[in-house]
Amino acid sequence: MTGKRILLIIGGGIAAYKIPQLIRLIRAEGMAVTPILTRAGGEFTTAMTISVLAGEAAHEGLFDISTEAEIGHIQLSRNADLVVVAPATADLMAKMAQGLADDLASTLLLATDKRVLIAPAMNVRMWHHPATQRNLALLRDDGILMIGPDEGDMACGEFGPGRMAEPEAIMAAIREALNVSLRPAPETRASGPLTGRHVIVTSGPTHEPIDPVRYIANRSSGAQGAAIAAALRDLGARVSFVTGPAVVPAPEGVEVIRVETAMQMRDAVEAALPAEAAVMAAAVADWRVVNSSQRKMKKDGTGQPPALEMAENPDILAWVSGLKAQRPLLVVGFAAETHDVIAHATAKRQRKGCDWIVANDVSPSTGIMGGDENAVILLRATGAEEWPRMSKHEVARRLADEIAKELG
Ligand SMILES: Cc1cc2nc3c(=O)[nH]c(=O)nc-3n(C[C@H](O)[C@H](O)[C@H](O)COP(=O)(O)O)c2cc1C
Repeated sequence: MTGKRILLIIGGGIAAYKIPQLIRLIRAEGMAVTPILTRAGGEFTTAMTISVLAGEAAHEGLFDISTEAEIGHIQLSRNADLVVVAPATADLMAKMAQGLADDLASTLLLATDKRVLIAPAMNVRMWHHPATQRNLALLRDDGILMIGPDEGDMACGEFGPGRMAEPEAIMAAIREALNVSLRPAPETRASGPLTGRHVIVTSGPTHEPIDPVRYIANRSSGAQGAAIAAALRDLGARVSFVTGPAVVPAPEGVEVIRVETAMQMRDAVEAALPAEAAVMAAAVADWRVVNSSQRKMKKDGTGQPPALEMAENPDILAWVSGLKAQRPLLVVGFAAETHDVIAHATAKRQRKGCDWIVANDVSPSTGIMGGDENAVILLRATGAEEWPRMSKHEVARRLADEIAKELG
């Protein structure tokens, strides 16, 4: 990452107090930071603190003659390798979604030709507001990358999603975004042992709606699935990447099919067939709410919570494994267990009819779910192979090598 430059736009939210730490992390990796403070951002952290830590003066206004004469706002937006917006306030997200350009930050965001990563931070109600969710959908469609927000206690005393991701997590997303944009474009990619092969990879969690603003989800970040898709692509495979709403960005150079629910994921996998291999790394919800409401559910004053009626979701792994003509030559499932990992994963392999199971212990103490590392056991019909703890990227590369060997 040494020598890369991050254009860091700091919006007007309480979470701006975490930005000095983010700047330290970015610079510790040998990267440069061009800081941009919005007017509101300057209310929460100072240009002095940010400039000293970044080692460069923070830019604040659009109509600053000295800056404009020296570098110019268009140049500023192009000189960076990646644009990061943190905290990305509801207001900044709205401006980005609408293409407004009435201050330096929003003008740079509109003028840039680089990838943009946002770390949203706001009150839980602001986050859930239909306007913010609409803007979010527009930004996703525009290819804007996102990290967080996390769920938890907020500075305003409320609880829920809206906390800005921690600086370490933003740093990991920056690394991933830069790694991706440093990779060669698919058409110029070197061929490898999987050239000419088609692989489907599922990834991330699924969201099962309760009503228009609530859903049942899980803690899968999509990190392992994204790394596997990237590793298979690097071996030359054509990858269909079917992903739920993950926090880790999808890799470049793969066909990305975004879904929300388990039912949509099943349909997307079916549409992507035929394939030589399928790697089912998504954390698919076992159940969905069948009496989900088209309108936001309200408390009715009786103190009685709504009775959610659940139905089992399609078992995508078992379904793919049981296909006749369309069955991929190799079907790989994942087993996230919290105890008796080998016993449960062995039973799962037999029950689902898949060829391999990549099993791991996701007990909270392992830090695997949402973390950068993984410790897996690869189970085949011939037995179990325990891999040492390593980065999720390393697990992905090793698994991709095994898949390439298997497909011959
Ligand atoms: C104490 C305080 C805290 C705020 N925190 C947030 C926040 O976390 N997220 C947010 O979207 N807006 C927050 N706001 C509102 C924004 O500061 C306001 O919408 C501002 O116009 C955003 O400017 P920006 O687009 O430059 O970020 C806060 C306002 C105040 C007074």
